[in-house]
Amino acid sequence: MTLAVLDLVVAFTAAAAWIGGGATSAAGRSRVALGLAAAGALAALGRAAVTAALARHGWWFVQEKVTLALPLLAAGLVAVMRSRSAVPLFFAGYSASAGFLVTLLIGYPVGWAAGLITVALVGAATLVTARRAGRVPVALVLSVGLAGVVVAVVVPGPAAHHDHGGTPVTALRGATGPAPGRTVRRYDLTARKATVGGFEAWTFNGQVPGPPITAGTGDLIEVTLRNADIGAGVTLHWHGYDVPAGEDGVPGLTQDAVKPGGTFVYRFLAGRSGTYWYHTHEASSEGVRRGLYGALVVTPRGRAPSGLDLTVPVHTLDGRTVLGGPDRRTVPAGTPVRLRLINTDSGPHRLALAGVGYRVVSLDGTDLVGPGPLDGVALRLPAGGRYDVAFAMPAGGVSLLVDGAAALGMTSGAADPPEPRTGGWPEFDPLSYGSPAPAPFGPDSRFDRRFTLVLDRAFSLAGGRPRYAYTINGRAYPSVPAMVVREGDLVLMTVANRGLETHPWHLHGHRVLVLSRDGRAPTGSPLWMDTFDVRPGEVWRVAFRADNPGLWMNHCHNLAHADKGMMLHLAYEGIASAHGV
Ligand code: C2O
Ligand code: CU
Repeated sequence: MTLAVLDLVVAFTAAAAWIGGGATSAAGRSRVALGLAAAGALAALGRAAVTAALARHGWWFVQEKVTLALPLLAAGLVAVMRSRSAVPLFFAGYSASAGFLVTLLIGYPVGWAAGLITVALVGAATLVTARRAGRVPVALVLSVGLAGVVVAVVVPGPAAHHDHGGTPVTALRGATGPAPGRTVRRYDLTARKATVGGFEAWTFNGQVPGPPITAGTGDLIEVTLRNADIGAGVTLHWHGYDVPAGEDGVPGLTQDAVKPGGTFVYRFLAGRSGTYWYHTHEASSEGVRRGLYGALVVTPRGRAPSGLDLTVPVHTLDGRTVLGGPDRRTVPAGTPVRLRLINTDSGPHRLALAGVGYRVVSLDGTDLVGPGPLDGVALRLPAGGRYDVAFAMPAGGVSLLVDGAAALGMTSGAADPPEPRTGGWPEFDPLSYGSPAPAPFGPDSRFDRRFTLVLDRAFSLAGGRPRYAYTINGRAYPSVPAMVVREGDLVLMTVANRGLETHPWHLHGHRVLVLSRDGRAPTGSPLWMDTFDVRPGEVWRVAFRADNPGLWMNHCHNLAHADKGMMLHLAYEGIASAHGV
C-alpha cells in the first residue's frame, strides 16, 4: 500500500470513529463512545505520522495536510481530550471529515479561500449539532462534503488564455520539398469506420493499425488525411516527432478537426531518425482506442536496415492484443533483428523477450549510449513510449510476451518459440542502463524557466462540467495556466504525482532530457524521452530547450485522464492561437 492510500485510510478512520463516537455518546452508550474516541485519536496520530513520512518526498505531497487537515485533526483531538460527550466528538468527527475530503476533493494546493470555507463549514456543522442536542444531522455531515464543491465553484480559475498576438500558429508549417537528393514520401490516409476482427473499429484505410509511414532522413513526408465518416472528426498527431507546430495536428490549437468529407495535408521534413507513431488527436481517448493510429519510422539516410527490421505497435483492440502483423515468423539463425516496440495503449505494458539475449538500442527515437546485454529482464513500456531492441536470431525460437501472454513468435525452424513464465523477471530501468555521456545541459545548468506540475485528482468545474477531474496543480484543462516560454529558453519541468495512478507524461514538439527521478540522476546513458511514466508518489525532473516555436500540448498520455482535465499548453511568446483557444 502506498503512503497516499494509507493517508486516506487513516483520515477516513479518524472521521468515522469520532462521528460514530458522537452518535453512541448521544445514545448514552458512553463506554463504546470512549473506545471510539480513542480509536479516532489513534488514527489522527497515524495521519500525522503518515504525513511526516510523505513530507520527505516533497511539500507538494503534504501541503493541504500540514496547513489544513492536521490543524483540524489537532483541534478535534483537543476537544475529545477535554470531554467525551457527544458534541465535542461530533466536532472532532467533522474536523477529521473535512481534512479527509480536502485531500480527496481539492488536494494540492489548498488556498486561503478553500481553507476558510472548510473551517466555517466545520464550525457551522458543530453549532447546529449542539443546538439539536446531539442528534446526528446527516445533512450537515454532507454539507462538510460539499465544502470541496463550494470551493470549486468559488475558485474555478479562468480559462487559461495566452494569446500574446504575433505569428499565428497555423502559419508555422513544414518544409515544401525534400533535402537535396532525397525524395517525397507520399501517403493517403482515409479515416473511416470498418469492422476489424468483428469489432466496429475506426480505421485509417480500413486497417488497424493504419499503414506504416516510413522515410529516410532528409525525405519530405507528405500525408493527405481524409475523413470519410468519423463524425467526431480526426487529425494526425506525430507522436514524438518534433514537427513544426502547424503540422502537429491538435484540433482547436493548431488546426480545426477534419470533419467527414474534409481534408488536411501534412508536410514535414524527416529530420531525425527513429521510431515514432501517429494518431488522431480529436476525441483521442475514443479514437485511438478504436484504431486511429499507426507507426512512423524514419531510418538514417543511406543506411538501409539490414536483416529483419520489424515495427511492433502493441495495441488493445476490443480486449485483444493487436500487433498489426503475423504473430508467427520464420527467421534464419544469425539474422540481425530489430524490433521497434511501440505502446499505443493508454496504460503501461510489460513486454518480455524470451529465448534470446538482447540490447535496448533506442528509446523514444533516440539511440542509447553503450547499451549492455540483457536477458530475462522485462521491459515496462509507458503508454505512448517506444523501445527498439536488437539481437541476432539464435538457432532456436524467440518470443515476445505482452503482459505475460505470447504475442509474437519467431523461429529459425529448429525449435518452437519458448513460452516461459516471465512474471518474476526483474524490470528494466532505463535510468541505470548504458554508459554516461555528455549532454547539452544538466542539473546544474542555468534554467531560464522552471515549472512544477503536481498531478492529482480533484473536484472541478473547469470547462463548465462538474467532474472528478484529473488535475495539474489543482486545476483541470482548460483552466490550467499555460507554461509560457521564449524561444531559446532552457526549461526545467518538475512533474510530481500525488495521485494513486500512473501518469505517462507527454510533451509535444520537444524531447526532454531526464535529470532525476525521486532526486536520483540517471547513472547510465543520457535519457531523452517524450513520454515518461510518473508513477504514484514519484517526482521527475526533466529539461528541454525551447527550440520549436508554437503552441503545444503537454499532457498525460493516459488519454482518458487527458480527457478529464490532465492537459495544459506550452506557449511560446509571440505565437498566437488562430482559433481563439
Ligand atoms: Cu500522443 Cu497529445 O499525444
Ligand atoms: Cu494520467
